Amino acid sequence: MRVLVTGGAGYIGTHTLIELIAAGHEPLVVDSFANSVPEALVRTGELVQRTIPFAECDVRERAALRAICADFNPEAVIHFAGLKAVGESEERPRDYYDVNVSGTLNLLAALEGTACKRIVFSSSATVYGVPQYLPYDEAHPCAPASVYAKTKHMAENILTDWQCANPQTAVTVLRYFNPVGAHGSARIGEDPQGIPNNLMPFIAQVAVGRRDRLMVFGDDYDTPDGTGVRDYIHVSDLARAHVAALGAAQTGTEVFNIGTGTGYSVLDMIGAFEKAAGCSIPYRITGRRAGDIAAMQADASRAADLLGWRAELGLAQMCASTWHWQRANPQGYNGE
Ligand code: NAD
Ligand code: WQD
Repeated sequence: MRVLVTGGAGYIGTHTLIELIAAGHEPLVVDSFANSVPEALVRTGELVQRTIPFAECDVRERAALRAICADFNPEAVIHFAGLKAVGESEERPRDYYDVNVSGTLNLLAALEGTACKRIVFSSSATVYGVPQYLPYDEAHPCAPASVYAKTKHMAENILTDWQCANPQTAVTVLRYFNPVGAHGSARIGEDPQGIPNNLMPFIAQVAVGRRDRLMVFGDDYDTPDGTGVRDYIHVSDLARAHVAALGAAQTGTEVFNIGTGTGYSVLDMIGAFEKAAGCSIPYRITGRRAGDIAAMQADASRAADLLGWRAELGLAQMCASTWHWQRANPQGYNGE
């Protein structure tokens, strides 16, 4: 299929391109490089031994996006493009609504008149909010707390309503849990700008000497060791879920949790990373981070039952691949 991949130069996008091409799809990336670099697409191209076609475009630029869509005439879209930092979303709500919500509306407008019948959307487990029960299944009520979570939930609703009005189409909403890890080649991986917000890239930067120590945000949660528990999923497993989604339901809207179903604490993650990297990760316990919840994990059985997808890579592979990427690219893509 001809697949338009918005945000394809980013962390999850590049890993997904590899799986898409391996499955015989023809991607075209649209990315503004707001949070990525063209080098990521060059390296992805090297891994699949072909040039990855891309158009530098902001999804909010309606005329430019419409021209790209008219020319490429996609049969499907994977919509990754978006802003994703929870803390920043509270400081810059207008930007988050603009990119994540208006950008999605703009994409739908740009697709009018094209062959596109399928949209796969990058959503987040954060739309569920404070757990009423765990593991979260897809029927868990949504109570998004942060601006970021609200924008993702709004985009889900927009796409669902668009699908209802266009019954010949299919929308697949993937609610990712905590993506980590890197491609086995160590050529592509997560490259956050500035101080990492997320645990795994922060640990990796401590291991490679870019940061002195990790601050552990709270050890007084109601969890086995008191630190926060999350469902970490290898980005290559997550990438495969997009290919499975493209091959799924012909029409209708479907929502899937994409996680492993297993929760690990912050201390578990430190221990596993130390083992993978063969070094110690200095850390200090500090206060809780505002807005954090104690624990969350996925019931991912729906994706297994309906998409035939399940995570295959475990914590050791998540840590080892992150370490290999970080060690080979201590400054991320900027090293080249
Ligand atoms: P990323 O920042 O690495 O990738 C997003 C890509 O979108 C980047 O290449 C960026 O340059 C591009 N982009 C941003 N604004 C744009 C705009 N206005 N127009 C065009 N391109 C734009 O992030 P990622 O981790 O690969 O996340 C991809 C998607 O998955 C995002 O929508 C994110 O909200 C969602 N998601 C990510 C996580 C996570 O923890 N990484 C978890 C749940 C959901
Ligand atoms: C994991 C655990 C922290 C950093 C966020 C978004 C979510 C999704 C994934 C996009 C928590 C602890 C972290 C640090 C720490 N992204 N931690 N020290 O908060 O589950 O989810 O990323 O959709 O929307 O909210 O992930 O990696 O930030 O934190 O102790 O320096 O690590 O408190 O328990 P989180 P995270």
